[in-house]
Amino acid sequence: MEQQTFADKKRKTVEQAEFTEDGRYLRKVRSFVLRTGRLSDYQRDMMNNNWANLGLDYQPTPFDFEQIFGNNNPVVLEIGFGMGKSLVEMAAQNPLRNYIGIEVHTPGVGACIAYALEKGIKNLRVICHDATEILRDSIADGSLGGLQLYFPDPWQKAKHYKRRIVQPEFITKVIEKLGPNGFIHFATDWENYAEHMLEVLRQFDDKLQNTSETNDFIPRPDFRPLTKFEERGHKLGHSVWDLYFIKKE
Ligand SMILES: C[S@@+](CC[C@H](N)C(=O)[O-])C[C@H]1O[C@@H](n2cnc3c(N)ncnc32)[C@H](O)[C@@H]1O
Repeated sequence: MEQQTFADKKRKTVEQAEFTEDGRYLRKVRSFVLRTGRLSDYQRDMMNNNWANLGLDYQPTPFDFEQIFGNNNPVVLEIGFGMGKSLVEMAAQNPLRNYIGIEVHTPGVGACIAYALEKGIKNLRVICHDATEILRDSIADGSLGGLQLYFPDPWQKAKHYKRRIVQPEFITKVIEKLGPNGFIHFATDWENYAEHMLEVLRQFDDKLQNTSETNDFIPRPDFRPLTKFEERGHKLGHSVWDLYFIKKE
């Protein structure tokens, strides 16, 4: 049998096992399905050889960003970076920001590390774990400069809406983690999800300011590089909705 390396095992630890008060395994509603996509030898080597410099593991206490990045620059968290190309491009374009990308799909994590190395990026770390657990346990309150979520899984059937990551509890947590004036930037090519995102964000009017002039969506900003899913959507003739909110002081 093939030997299991760190990268192969990582896929099995993307969430913490949690138990009910009477000790039964807690089945969680997840926003992702672990796809079986094979980790290529190249992606596996990238993860195995560069984790110490570019990877971060789940921890039950908050990360020390200053120690991780060696500076006090604002930290932007991206959830579900896919193959990571647009995240690496953003990190390259914004050297005075630090980026942490979270993705559960290991081939994407390997590909992102490879691209970050190719570009010589220093202001990026990647995590291979359920983002909702990272946000809850590993990020200090008030410590983020921004949260970006681009083309999250839309969970198109009504019976699956509960699996959408954007829910009131999720936004409550994000607001807790953002510093004053921290931003929330969402993009989706699924109209029904865009409306759902707007409806949920509007429930936090007292804490969040919508930057949209029309009080709904913003025009696609140039600073957001084209993502892989967005490109695929374009080919299918999909529109795109961007939402950009700021945490009130
Ligand atoms: C539809 S893809 C979009 C990927 C990328 N942002 C793009 O636009 O090309 C959504 C990604 O989010 C990841 N994802 C979903 N829920 C997640 C979670 N709770 N934690 C980390 N990643 C998650 C999935 O594995 C998937 O790769």
